[in-house]
Formats: sequence, C-alpha cells, structure tokens
Amino acid sequence: MEEVKIGLLGFGTVGKGVYELIKKNQDLIQKRTGIKLSIKKALVRDPQKHKGYPEELFTTEPDEVFKDPEINIVCELIGGEHPAKEYILKALELGKEVITANKAVLAKWGDEVWGTADKLGRFLGFEASVGGGIPIIKTLKEALIGNDITSIIGIINGTTNYILTRMLEENLSFEKALNEAKEKGYAEADPTLDINGMDSAHKIAILASLAFGFFIPVEKVYVEGIENVSVLDLMFAKDFGYIIKLLAFAIKGENEVEVRVHPTLIPENHVLASIRLNYNALYITGNFVGEVLLYGLGAGKEPTASAVVGDIIDAVEHRLFKKTSFIKYPLTKKDNFYKIKPMDEVESKYYFRFSAIDRPGVLSKISGVLGEHQISIASVVQIGRQKPGESVPIVMLTHETKEKNVKLAFKEIEKLDVVTDKPIKLRIL
Ligand code: NAP
Ligand code: HSE
Repeated sequence: MEEVKIGLLGFGTVGKGVYELIKKNQDLIQKRTGIKLSIKKALVRDPQKHKGYPEELFTTEPDEVFKDPEINIVCELIGGEHPAKEYILKALELGKEVITANKAVLAKWGDEVWGTADKLGRFLGFEASVGGGIPIIKTLKEALIGNDITSIIGIINGTTNYILTRMLEENLSFEKALNEAKEKGYAEADPTLDINGMDSAHKIAILASLAFGFFIPVEKVYVEGIENVSVLDLMFAKDFGYIIKLLAFAIKGENEVEVRVHPTLIPENHVLASIRLNYNALYITGNFVGEVLLYGLGAGKEPTASAVVGDIIDAVEHRLFKKTSFIKYPLTKKDNFYKIKPMDEVESKYYFRFSAIDRPGVLSKISGVLGEHQISIASVVQIGRQKPGESVPIVMLTHETKEKNVKLAFKEIEKLDVVTDKPIKLRIL
C-alpha cells in the first residue's frame, strides 16, 4: 500500500476542507485506490489561529514543505497573486506535483505556469479553480475533448449568486447578504474580487482558454460586477419575467471569440434562472454533444475540497504510473489565432431604467434618442405616478442592438434636462 504525503500551502476555508475530507474519507479512498493520503505539513502565517488541529501540522517556514523529500504533492491554497505564483513555480521546479485552487494566478500567468508544468512533465491540477465542486475542468479536458466547444455560459461565482438570491428572495440589503457569504466562507479574502466580477473573469478566462485552445489572459475579458444591481432592478426584472444573475460568457464566432462577465436578465423559464445561493452552473455547447449542463456547489469548504482531492488522486496516478496527458494546456499567447470581439460590437437585448421627471413628452424625448441610435424598444413601463416635477422610474426592454449604440444613446440621454439620475443598463440573455 502506497502512502502519499501531501503539503498544504494555506489552511483557510479550502485547506481545512481538504484536511477534513482526507481525515473522514481516508479509508474509503484507500479502498478504492489502494493509496493512503496523509497531510504532513500546512504552511500558514499564524499557527495560533488553528487551535483544535494537531500543533505539529503547522509551519510558517515554506521550505518545510518545499524541501521535504517525503512530500511529493503540494496544494497551493493561499490565494492572491503573490507569493502564490512563486510558490506554484517553485514547487514544480523542485519536482513536486502541484494542485491549485488559484484562478487569479492561472488567469494572469497561465501561459507561464502551464508552460512550466508542461516543460517539466509535472502534474498541475486546477479543478478547484472554477466552479467549486463541479468537475468542469475534467469535463472540458477529457469527456468533451472530441467536441468543438462553441459556447460556455455560466454562473461561476458563488458569493454574488448568494447575494443576488438573498436580496431578491428575502429583501436583504447588499451589505447583509455579503456578510453572510463571508461568514459561510464563500467570499475571496478580498471580496471586492467577487463583487466587481473579477473572480468570474478569472474563471471564464481559464475556461475559454481550455475550450478554445489558446491562452486568453484575464485582461482580455470584459467585466462588469454587481455593484450597481439594486433591489429595485431585481424586482422590476422579476415583474417582466426575468431573474438577474452575474453571468460569464465564452462564445466562439466565425473568426472571433466573446469573453465577458456582466449581470444579465435571464428569462424565468431558463434553467440558469433557477440556480440559487452558492450554487454554480455551466451551460456548455459542443458541436457533437449538443448542450450539457453542469450544476453544483460553486463555493465553500466541502465542495472545493472535493475538487482538490480529485486532483490529488490524479497527481498520484501521474507520479506512480508516469501517466501524462495527451491534452496540451493552452500554452502561449502566440497561438492566439482568434481575435477577441470588442465589447462595442457585441449584440444583446437590453433592460434600461431611467429616472425622469413625471411630465408629458418625457418618454418621447428618451425614445427619440434611442431611435436615432438604432435601438428599438420592445416594451416600456412607467412605474407609479408622482406629483408634477417629481421623478419616476421608467423601465424599457429593447430588441437586439450593438453595445456601441447603447453607449452613444446613454451619453445623450444623461444630458437631457428631464433625466434626474444616471440611467441603468443591463443585458438580457
Ligand atoms: P482563506 O480562507 O483566506 O485561507 C488562506 C490561507 O492561506 C490561510 O490559512 C492563511 O494563513 C494562508 N496564507 C495566506 N497568505 C499566506 C502567506 N503569504 N504565507 C503563508 N500562508 C498564507 O482562503 P480560501 O477561501 O481557503 O481560498 C484559498 C484559495 O482557494 C484561493 O485561491 C481561492 O480563490 C480559492 N478558492 C476558494 C473557494 C472558497 O469557497 N473559499 C472555492 C474555490 C477556490 P493564516 O491561516 O495564518 O491566515
Ligand atoms: N469566491 C469564490 C466564489 C470562491 O464565491 O465563487 C469559489 O471560487
């Protein structure tokens, strides 16, 4: 029986989950694989924070993990960019197989990190970097390898999905919902990355790179977060038969790909509209398989640990049987044979909310500007009646139009004397 010793870099939400999973399911894993997994060391900043776990597990000295010849598998679960990137590279260079949950590093330096693992013939597992416990990376790298993947549309951030669900269903304030997500361990160490859409951007950059076969760094992803999504918009959208979610898109066109993240109105009867709380879902289209939906817990200790341990088993298999993958990582920026479609050229239907003075002629002024910019209105509602001179919300849904038309129209509408607040625009799926 083979005993495999693992070093953890980081013992936060995910690190603890990995420790607890291995403790609880060690016998089960051993029965299935013949391998005994054990965690030898965990690098942390402050061992005092981890009372209740064996004291000898912890170290604040990175080399106690890197230089230990018994440790063959290193899991980077620190998060952030530095020193996480340097630790991943160092572990690979010192002959370890590496597992990481770090989407930020892969989305920014994937070419270098994947390239190093490939050059050195090491295993680099990153299942936990996207979709928590959902096996999306394996699905793309293995099960769907025979397909030309034409699109991936997904809810890939548990924190924002949790916040939007709690705001809509319980009328919770944004701050309260965010605090709950933090307490439950879903949020990033810096939760701005969840809120401003960057965490989803990191994840869709990784998925698009895998699906389309060339490295798409996160700077190429168009990103909007949920900062400006109010309870008012969640309610109005619901009245029109839509649920607002933060969606990530990777869509392949003739010669271009669209890679973007933004809050989106989803028709209530669409399967993605029913994904609540910290659940994630990925809607993948391949040219032979058709449509595939993957659904599961996208954030949190247990589901993420499940993904890390799946990778650990693959790493052991790689090490013991010299199993290498036929599937090459998306290596270099030079392979960029597709262009990224500029956001201005992306077409969508829109939800607009204007705040305007309740007076005759206001609607025609706004719709006049929209018409001048080839934006055709599908429906319009003025909500409530105010005393003359006070402002009311006007909500409009449009037919498909280009992003650049909306930008130009909004510039003019903002300047109208009847418009009292910054107009809101959200795209519709
Ligand atoms: P976390 O709870 O903040 O834990 C981070 C751990 O890393 C802590 O134990 C911390 O030490 C340690 N650490 C941080 N910087 C360090 C440094 N410079 N040197 C040594 N130790 C350091 O983070 P997490 O939620 O577990 O997330 C870890 C990674 O998994 C991130 O990349 C995250 O994006 C990813 N991820 C998280 C989830 C989730 O649901 N939380 C899901 C999927 C992926 P101390 O304990 O001493 O503070
Ligand atoms: N902060 C991330 C989320 C963790 O909320 O989805 C999982 O990657």
